[in-house]
Amino acid sequence: MLKVAHIIVEEEFYISQDPSQAAGILRIFFQDCFVQGCDASLLLERPEGSERSATSDLNSLRATSVRIINEIKASLEVACPGVVSCADTLALAARDSIFMVGGPWIPILTGRKDSIVAASNQTVMASVPVATLGFSELKRLFASKGLSVKDLVALSGAHTIGQTHCGLAVSQLTPTMSRDLSPAFGANLSQICLAYHPAARKSHLTVHLDSLTPDSFDNAYFKNVLKKQAIFHSDAALLDDNEGLSYVRSFALSQAQFFKQFHLSFLKMSQIGVLTNVEGEVRMSCGLAN
Ligand code: HEM
Repeated sequence: MLKVAHIIVEEEFYISQDPSQAAGILRIFFQDCFVQGCDASLLLERPEGSERSATSDLNSLRATSVRIINEIKASLEVACPGVVSCADTLALAARDSIFMVGGPWIPILTGRKDSIVAASNQTVMASVPVATLGFSELKRLFASKGLSVKDLVALSGAHTIGQTHCGLAVSQLTPTMSRDLSPAFGANLSQICLAYHPAARKSHLTVHLDSLTPDSFDNAYFKNVLKKQAIFHSDAALLDDNEGLSYVRSFALSQAQFFKQFHLSFLKMSQIGVLTNVEGEVRMSCGLAN
């Protein structure tokens, strides 16, 4: 109980200061689970750079959110040394983040152990979905993690919070505007992300993934996808399949349906490739194996 209270109080402080950190923490958890399982391997520092630097999409993970996880873990080590793994710290922090910005409360299991090694860059690149993927590639990648099309669509709903760097959005804008975007939405995005001359792309700038309610975990993402107001090709691609389309429609119509399915899908995701007992360790510091 003490452990959980520590995590919640400290995290509440950070998220009340900057609600967008909820998105940063959730995305780190998703990427960690997809690379070699929910084992906090993404937090390990390697001489050649962490898993986070293996792809340009991952390189955009928020350093500030990684710091928050490390600080929560450091407090846990003071309160009860060697008990709560970094993998559980991250999973609980992601679960709490969702709730703190208005999403469903998801009771998750604990007992994850931490990996001793990080994945190779090759494994990272094969495991992490990038924004240019089409429906069949997304379906295949999620299936390889034991996740269905329903899970893919529900979990993509996490793009109802947070932001993207313009650098990851420009492929939708140049050389020609993608048909994934409505003309008005695309024009607005171009105004923010492209300078007057295309050579001066403002790749360091960020834009909200859901421009109307960026810090609120709601079902706006699905309405955005249907209106062609979601930024990535991987978002629009959910409409390219009848099953995907039917889930997008149903979650756009009912936030309750979305929350119910997100709950189930998040639980599944939080158990991907989990290490238990002697399969892993409880790291003292999330960046370093013991
Ligand atoms: C379906 C495949 C997915 C792709 C291709 C994808 C790709 C991306 C990209 C490119 C960004 C912007 C990164 C940046 O510029 O900083 C992003 C942001 C984000 N993604 Fe995804 N994502 C996917 C699924 C998911 C899932 C399953 C979750 C969580 C359950 C998730 C949670 C987030 C969040 C919360 C953000 C905002 C991060 C922030 O504001 O720091 N994504 N995603």
